[in-house]
Amino acid sequence: MCGIVGYIGKNRAVPYLLEGLEKLEYRGYDSAGIATVENGALRVLKTKGRVSSLESLIASEHRSPANIGIGHTRWATHGKPNNANAHPHESQSGLFCVVHNGVIENYLTLKTDLQAEGFVFRSETDTEVIAHLLEKNYDGDFVSTVRKTTAMLEGAYALCILCREFPDQIVCTRWGSPLVLGQCDEGCFIASDVSALLSHTSDIFYLDGHETVLVSANGMTFFDKFGVPTKKQSRHLDLNVSAAQKEGYDHFMLKEIMEQPRAVGDTIRGRITKEGKIAFEDFHLSDDEVRDLQRITIIACGSAYHAGAVGKYVIEKLARLPVEIDIASEYRYRDPVLDPHTLVILISQSGETADTLAALRLANEHGAKTLCIVNVVSSSIANEGGSVIYTHAGPEIAVATTKAYAAQVAVLYLLAGYLAEKRGLLVGEDLASYVRDLLALPEQIEKTLASCKAQMEAFSQLFIPLEHAYFIGRNLDYACAMEASLKLKEISYIHSEAYAAGELKHGTISLIEKGTLVVALCACSAVFPKTLSNIKEVKARGARVLAVATEGENTALSEVDFKVLLPNVNPLFSVTLEVLPMQLLGYYTAKNRGCDIDKPRNLAKSVTVE
Ligand code: AGP
Repeated sequence: MCGIVGYIGKNRAVPYLLEGLEKLEYRGYDSAGIATVENGALRVLKTKGRVSSLESLIASEHRSPANIGIGHTRWATHGKPNNANAHPHESQSGLFCVVHNGVIENYLTLKTDLQAEGFVFRSETDTEVIAHLLEKNYDGDFVSTVRKTTAMLEGAYALCILCREFPDQIVCTRWGSPLVLGQCDEGCFIASDVSALLSHTSDIFYLDGHETVLVSANGMTFFDKFGVPTKKQSRHLDLNVSAAQKEGYDHFMLKEIMEQPRAVGDTIRGRITKEGKIAFEDFHLSDDEVRDLQRITIIACGSAYHAGAVGKYVIEKLARLPVEIDIASEYRYRDPVLDPHTLVILISQSGETADTLAALRLANEHGAKTLCIVNVVSSSIANEGGSVIYTHAGPEIAVATTKAYAAQVAVLYLLAGYLAEKRGLLVGEDLASYVRDLLALPEQIEKTLASCKAQMEAFSQLFIPLEHAYFIGRNLDYACAMEASLKLKEISYIHSEAYAAGELKHGTISLIEKGTLVVALCACSAVFPKTLSNIKEVKARGARVLAVATEGENTALSEVDFKVLLPNVNPLFSVTLEVLPMQLLGYYTAKNRGCDIDKPRNLAKSVTVE
């Protein structure tokens, strides 16, 4: 998720581009750049770092008089944050310049073909492919060149493009990633979302998929997906910038909960080959090394550790490899037994968590194979890992993680399938149906969020007055219970515990009394009957039970007080749906208790302290 902007009008473009990029920085902030048209040439200024670094670079250069320009603030997915990978990207001869938000999944194939034709690449990005393709496809018509080029792309994109031959025009198009436009006396404005337009106009044009628009100082000409000129109506918005950045949601946490279909979709897509196999770009273990693995250790902190707990069950089940999970702050201070047949997996959203980084360094020192699952490209943990698999959740603003956790779990599903396939344990139709089930997840997440959002807002009323709450589950449900409990605790400040349901009777059950609220997670069909017996145990002691289960188990849950029913999915993927109502429960309970949801007390987004 990056932020792109564009402007053409009667005034200097640079101030508008910088202002727009600042408003879009929550979409990505590891590098930034602009391009303008001056004296018949495209002029690019770009740098690693935040928009403020770009501002200093521009201030050190000559003042550009240009009244046309495009800009970009980046969230790296392909290629580490540096000057070369920053946008805009130019074509071979500088004829075209492009800024892009999205992921081009077939970029490696296109890149290889272009290199064979003599195009020289200056960056590691997927986007540079587009710039060179534009030059290759140039037919003298700006719009048709863009349409020919996008017809070759697979994946998601929103593009703003300059062409030296058309110094007073910008062409934009999109598929999958958002792009909006607005016009006022000052000129025409283009941006990834309305937050960068609202200080100029509240009448917004939303570009539809595969539509193209030619923007000049006189206005905008829209073309439908067939390239036929078309009329578009703007929509008047009554929104302020901060609300717009949250896309109308009250908090970044809720926005990020609702972004999970895209985050999981982007994380899975691009890792499934045309042959239906699972593949990773920066996974450097050979097939033999995968077959020779004897043990896996997953290490992380907080919610990332909880994602690891899901990974343990799924990898053991599919790849038949023993998996240990460990909290990084414990692991780094014990003398772990490591050998070349151990794969140490480190999970971190930020890639900067000190305990996890230290555990990685310990594993490296012991010569173990290391794999890092990280959301921030080129973060410390990503840079020091032997292999890295990025989650494509985009920047996560809310301290309480949701979409990054979901993307981590999705990577662990992919990894389990990959290891099992390489070890000959998941082949043919079994592999094909596993991959089908993976690709179906984004839609199932969307459906589940739509069906349980209002219900969880209602159920949160039960939790507002509470001082204590208990989450129980077995197997994958227990892994989910740990995350559910943390989501409630860290933002609503209610003391809550997650327990392996079978463990209750060994003491903790003495805490259960009349009216105690117990959340029973029982979507994992393999252990449902056992969890049901634990529900009976707490009910017998007067507890009120909120059960989360799959539709098929409805009748068996006659004893519970409240229930949330989930659609049936591949049983190995139950946590991905089961955690959604739990995230919403944490959110609405905190909201109704008046807590500062996006920035809870005593917490930081990334714990880099020792
Ligand atoms: C989760 O909501 C918390 N923000 C926290 O537990 C977090 O998961 C933990 O600090 C690990 O952070 P990381 O994924 O960036 O390493």
